[in-house]
Amino acid sequence: MTQDIHEAVQERYGELAREEKSCCCKSESASAKLYDSTMLEGLPVDVTGLSLGCGDPVSIANLNPGETVLDLGSGGGIDCFLAARQVGDEGYVIGVDMTPDMLAKANASKVEMGVKNVEFRKGHIENLPVVNDSIDVVMSNCVINLSPDKAAVFSEVFRVLKPGGRASISDIVTEGEFTPELRADLNRWSECVTGAIDAEAYTGLMRAAGFVDVQIVDKVEAKEDIVPLQEGMPRIYSARITARKPA
Ligand SMILES: C[S@@+](CC[C@H](N)C(=O)[O-])C[C@H]1O[C@@H](n2cnc3c(N)ncnc32)[C@H](O)[C@@H]1O
Repeated sequence: MTQDIHEAVQERYGELAREEKSCCCKSESASAKLYDSTMLEGLPVDVTGLSLGCGDPVSIANLNPGETVLDLGSGGGIDCFLAARQVGDEGYVIGVDMTPDMLAKANASKVEMGVKNVEFRKGHIENLPVVNDSIDVVMSNCVINLSPDKAAVFSEVFRVLKPGGRASISDIVTEGEFTPELRADLNRWSECVTGAIDAEAYTGLMRAAGFVDVQIVDKVEAKEDIVPLQEGMPRIYSARITARKPA
């Protein structure tokens, strides 16, 4: 099942990454909905047009100059490039993604922008290619819902954070759970729908991994135009969640 989910998700995001620029106008307006317009100034359309998140985890991360940031499921790189501006030349941003076409897009944008403090690594968020206790802030935008093993993801996030490090997450969560039948729909799973879990279960997994101060900062019910709903589904939300690894 894990491999099937990874394959279905990788296929979907590989296709989106390979789409021509002209197909991205819809996503471009999606980035305008998620972020304050001043944040997007100066970003190329290849970045804003490939924004596939469900919120803005950067603004609630309260990044400081010099910090090291890790973005789980970095996609076209939008949150990495935004974070890179905030941590400055003394800081560093690592984006991890399993989809080669997404990494290629993100690296091409990095070259186009001449950004030096961002690195994109290939890997799974359930087994991060990052050393222990090395990260100040882990961010993620609409990715953990896609993972077949969310407990492993939170355990990895905890491992790589420095003591006192923070997590700043934007993700899809539910109120109640999907039925096993709906969960088996890998198309809807890879669209960030049926892999989502109940918000309390989600924050419970974070606490079980060792996180403290786990807080749902805000939670907005998903609109039909963003997440096509279907009979028998629980209520679906885009939530922003923060947490801390004890010092
Ligand atoms: C919905 S997109 C979000 C991309 C980006 N965070 C953004 O806001 O635009 C999900 C991304 O996560 C990646 N992804 C999904 N599951 C993953 C996993 N288990 N390990 C690594 N990357 C994953 C996909 O390849 C895709 O690029």
